[in-house]
Amino acid sequence: MDKLIIEGGVKLKGEVIISGAKNSVLPIMAATLLTDDACLIKGVPELRDTNTMVKILRSLGKGVEFNKGMVTVATLKNTNYVADYKLVSTMRASFCVLGPLLGKLKKAKVSLPGGCIIGVRPVDLHLKGIKALGAEISIDSGYVLAKAKKLKGTHIYLGGVYGSSVLATDNVMMAAVLASGKTIIEAAACEPEVVDLAEFLNKMGAKISGHGTPTIEIEGVKHLHGATHTIIPDRIEAGTMILTALITKGDIIIKNVLLRHLGALIDKLEEAGVNIIKTDNSIHVSYKRPLKAVNITTLPYPGFPTDMQAQMMSLMCVTPGITIVTEKIYPDRFMHVAELNRMGAHIQREGPHAIVEGIEKLSGAPVMASDLRASASLALAGLAASGKTSISRIYHLERGYENIESKLEKLGAKIWREKE
Ligand code: EPZ
Repeated sequence: MDKLIIEGGVKLKGEVIISGAKNSVLPIMAATLLTDDACLIKGVPELRDTNTMVKILRSLGKGVEFNKGMVTVATLKNTNYVADYKLVSTMRASFCVLGPLLGKLKKAKVSLPGGCIIGVRPVDLHLKGIKALGAEISIDSGYVLAKAKKLKGTHIYLGGVYGSSVLATDNVMMAAVLASGKTIIEAAACEPEVVDLAEFLNKMGAKISGHGTPTIEIEGVKHLHGATHTIIPDRIEAGTMILTALITKGDIIIKNVLLRHLGALIDKLEEAGVNIIKTDNSIHVSYKRPLKAVNITTLPYPGFPTDMQAQMMSLMCVTPGITIVTEKIYPDRFMHVAELNRMGAHIQREGPHAIVEGIEKLSGAPVMASDLRASASLALAGLAASGKTSISRIYHLERGYENIESKLEKLGAKIWREKE
């Protein structure tokens, strides 16, 4: 296993290009199961998770090539309907093969994804939606078995205790596109990644409208064909890069971004006193003066994303004043708190809140990555800290940030990898 070493204190400067969105490409790759035709997906980031999805599609009978950001998916043999525990347990997003397998084959056996370090992550909403479409569901030996003679469009309310669910919306939408009649999903997730999936499905011949709002309407069709699609830029990578510029007191131009996807973060940063120069598809962030502490509350899109909470906390650790961070999506997503405190931060966890007292400087330390965004927050803290930080278990970072070391290195960071 590798660890990442960062010698902090360098002001990062230059340009960086954002990769395609991980959380968009994974369900879109799964959606190719809905057709026997070939599909081409462009702008696919080279990540541990995209490679896992390639393996899953191959295990289900697809021929998949992944080269230079392009994924082609073709049908090699009859689609297999069983998604194995070994693959599904390594990545929760693989559970979204359930909807397309069921839609296409009318049966699917998919391993339950299991526990997760960021908290309990149930799949009740996925199953509720799929059941409403007429599937019989049983759970046996850790697998969900779903089958139906035919799927029938219906009215589904998909809101849960913590609001809407991104992957449940994806799963139900993918099961419904080939159902007979009209499906209405209420309390649907509005995340840009759900919209990207709906647009890909429409290119395949689906009839989806309302995506991007809480009410999605799907007019079932008999059959879907192949399609070509380019993945939207990763808004979480873009946000992480904005915070990299600020925490290192640097000056970075971030290219290939969709500003409309970054509203809540930019609004918070402007409240903190940051001046962000925006053009059509780029953002220029330059540190000019000390920031102000700002409270954040994570919410479903278009609210402040839970996937930016840890990175924003790192920035607030070195911002004078008190910040209250409230996590409303995953109340236990605070694994980074103890590690940031090892670097000298003053953070107190109180249930779903963390209270951060900003200090002048963090100091480098050996820390451990626990999940993807926690790893990003530790890398940010390490870039700003005095001295050396070593981050163990960086495979978490490889799940979601394409070429992160070389991108940071090009901006001037002193960063390298060592064997544990
Ligand atoms: C997606 O996960 C993302 N993953 C997550 O990104 C992201 O944190 C999350 O959405 C929220 O934005 C992918 O898109 C691959 P949810 P998902 O279902 O869809 C509860 C990252 O770092 N819930 O929207 O699994 C759930 O426990 C990751 O890139 C139920 O109660 O999340 C949570 O409290 C991590 N029952 C809330 O809903 C269900 O059946 C929202 O979760 C499903 C979810």
